[in-house]
Amino acid sequence: MKIAISGDFVIRSGSVANPMDLVPDASVEAEVLGEFDYRLVNLEGPVLARNTKAKPTAKCGPILRMDDAIWDVLRKMGVDGVTTANNHIGDYGPVGIIDTMNGARKHGIEFFGSGLNFDHAYGLRMIDVGGEKLAILAVNEHDGAILHEREPTPAFLDLGRLAKNITQARFQEIPVLVYYHGGNQHCPLPNPYMRNLFRRLVDLGASAVVATHAHCPQAWEVYRKAPLFYGLGNFCLIGRKDSKHGISFQLKRKLLHILGRGFPPVKELAKKSHEYGLTVVLEFNGGSVTVSKIRFSRFTVDDGLKWIHDDEHLSCVKRIKEINDILIDDKHYGKVWDAWCHILTPQHLSMIQRNLAGGKMIFSKDFRKRISIANRFGCESTRTMILDYLTRKKPPSSDMLDKTVELMGLWNDD
Ligand SMILES: [Fe+2]
Repeated sequence: MKIAISGDFVIRSGSVANPMDLVPDASVEAEVLGEFDYRLVNLEGPVLARNTKAKPTAKCGPILRMDDAIWDVLRKMGVDGVTTANNHIGDYGPVGIIDTMNGARKHGIEFFGSGLNFDHAYGLRMIDVGGEKLAILAVNEHDGAILHEREPTPAFLDLGRLAKNITQARFQEIPVLVYYHGGNQHCPLPNPYMRNLFRRLVDLGASAVVATHAHCPQAWEVYRKAPLFYGLGNFCLIGRKDSKHGISFQLKRKLLHILGRGFPPVKELAKKSHEYGLTVVLEFNGGSVTVSKIRFSRFTVDDGLKWIHDDEHLSCVKRIKEINDILIDDKHYGKVWDAWCHILTPQHLSMIQRNLAGGKMIFSKDFRKRISIANRFGCESTRTMILDYLTRKKPPSSDMLDKTVELMGLWNDD
């Protein structure tokens, strides 16, 4: 069975007049990707029916919402299934999750990684192509919102439940694809926690692990014959515009950089990487899996979704090779990761410091603020970054910092 998987998909309500114009139809995909049996993308937000009234949930980060015209866009592209385990699916609370699951069913699209409650979200789901089965286990990091076990929810990462599902599928001799939503945004490499986790999932019996969320294409590797794609990048994404806070924060960081204190905002360092995405075709054959194809796409609001060809394709392959080479050299990988933490962590710590100063946080009734701090400790990737930053005895060399800044701009040149 061949399954084609792309990264994050969201076209927020009201962002464009006709979302259908932004994507090519399924025949173009088939031409680029070759033959495949099943098409999977990550649906990075709730799809609410037009007449549904729902309030945004209290969480940190942008709030996303799509309207039900999106189902036709997904059908146009030939999407068979969507992963709904992510940090935005709960942006409009239980109502948004229920609408999304109902809408998917109505339009003949399968969903993975959400449910009416936590047990349901972790139900063992599989696809069947001509009698050949594949379990798709979708989970997301503790990012963005809080888990309410008895309410509609995405499948927040629960290692025990995930291990149980992998074991159960393998006991039935069904191969397992784990879809993971997490990682450090705009970082071209996975963090050490994710890398270790993915390997242990393979040790448990997963045939392949594929991740998204970082909003940039990331490195990939093979471990014990299992492909591990740490970040497919964005596939088709129109999220929310920066909040006032986001803009003021970026301006402040830019000003400090001009004054010689600190690095430019991350969105400036990695300004184009969010336009690119990898689509991988994995071929499952009994217990083994091979990477049948990797193609690149680029999405901009003006030009829509375009597949990359010829010289531009070769340049994308070269970029991925550059980051893959770093990953397979443990020492080099460690140094780049340290430098990444050094560049990015201070903004998280300063946010925590600002809100904890003078006991403000203890008495704060601003739940959103509290969640925002809790998220820094609860989200596996952010926590890893902060802990690694705080526990390093020496700062990275200035040469390594310069090289890491350069690496973040890998996708900036056309
Ligand atoms: Fe995400």
